[in-house]
Amino acid sequence: HEADAYRTDLMTITRYVLNEQSRNPEARGDLTILLSHIVLGCKFVASAVNKAGLAKLIGLAGETNVQGEEQKKLDVLSNEVFVKALVSSGRTCVLVSEEDEEATFVDPALRGKYCVCFDPLDGSSNIDCGVSIGTIFGIYMIKDKENVTLEDVLQPGKNMVAAGYCMYGSSCTLVLSTGNGVNGFTLDPSLGEFILTHPDIKIPKKGKIYSVNEGNAKNWDEPTAKFVEKCKFPKDGSSPKSLRYIGSMVADVHRTLLYGGVFLYPADKKSPNGKLRVLYEVFPMSFLMEQAGGQSFTGKERALDLVPTKIHERSQIFLGSFEDVEDIKGLYAAQA
Ligand code: AHG
Ligand code: MN
Ligand code: MN
Ligand code: MN
Repeated sequence: HEADAYRTDLMTITRYVLNEQSRNPEARGDLTILLSHIVLGCKFVASAVNKAGLAKLIGLAGETNVQGEEQKKLDVLSNEVFVKALVSSGRTCVLVSEEDEEATFVDPALRGKYCVCFDPLDGSSNIDCGVSIGTIFGIYMIKDKENVTLEDVLQPGKNMVAAGYCMYGSSCTLVLSTGNGVNGFTLDPSLGEFILTHPDIKIPKKGKIYSVNEGNAKNWDEPTAKFVEKCKFPKDGSSPKSLRYIGSMVADVHRTLLYGGVFLYPADKKSPNGKLRVLYEVFPMSFLMEQAGGQSFTGKERALDLVPTKIHERSQIFLGSFEDVEDIKGLYAAQA
């Protein structure tokens, strides 16, 4: 009966992507092959994270990255695994990683038509205490892979063909969109396969949770301060929202996607453009939010309309339930 059929008719992520791609006649399986290499990277990081404490992977690698952050061993290790997996897929021509100052241009003999922007390990500050961390990626098609330049990478997020994240938490969950909605897959370690567990994720239109680092409140601009004040002391008699902040974007966004609410990383006087990086944090998460019926706003414009000028550019971000982000847009419009 139904349950048995379900148990034997395994919808793995590879099968799911193949089905998706077969809808478009000229697909040649390149995106499927690319995604299977990203999945390999995620499986590796999942296993490394699960035994980080045991395998002496805790602590600093002794270098700092272009962000001025001290790199953790797992930052460096996961970056190397993803770069090698993406290059060896033969489907990429340029890579942008949080951990590499410059973009990586793939050897012409191994080039494919995709650009991948990725954060190999998101939430590094949470590694040493075992709190959920993740990997974030966004995929663009490149016009002419023979003559790829940095300009090809500095595209608005709305041009992405796919985006996703993998969260290494109590279970390992990969959330993906190839432009037709959002689906969640959970790693079955006994099979080494990601199995479809969250089909067609839609974010609630309105939520009861706000997610922000309140420790930066002193430096917020007025619209942000007003929005957070409204969450805590609603004037319309509704009950206050709950605050949930994990400090790993992947975990905070995953909870927002499933439970609803809004995630904010506002600009502040210390970081006038906010902290989160456009190409491999803001864009992929904004793409997923829109695909799930939510939205994402920078304080000035729709996040996916932003055109980055540098590969590690940062932006303020407000993303999540459609109506909650509308409230924030109203406050910024009133200030403009
Ligand atoms: P990363 O570990 O990839 O550098 O990203 C960390 C980011 C993001 O995961 C999180 O939302 C944010 O930093 C938390 O910043 P604060 O600690 O300043 O709140
Ligand atoms: Mn970092
Ligand atoms: Mn990050
Ligand atoms: Mn990172």
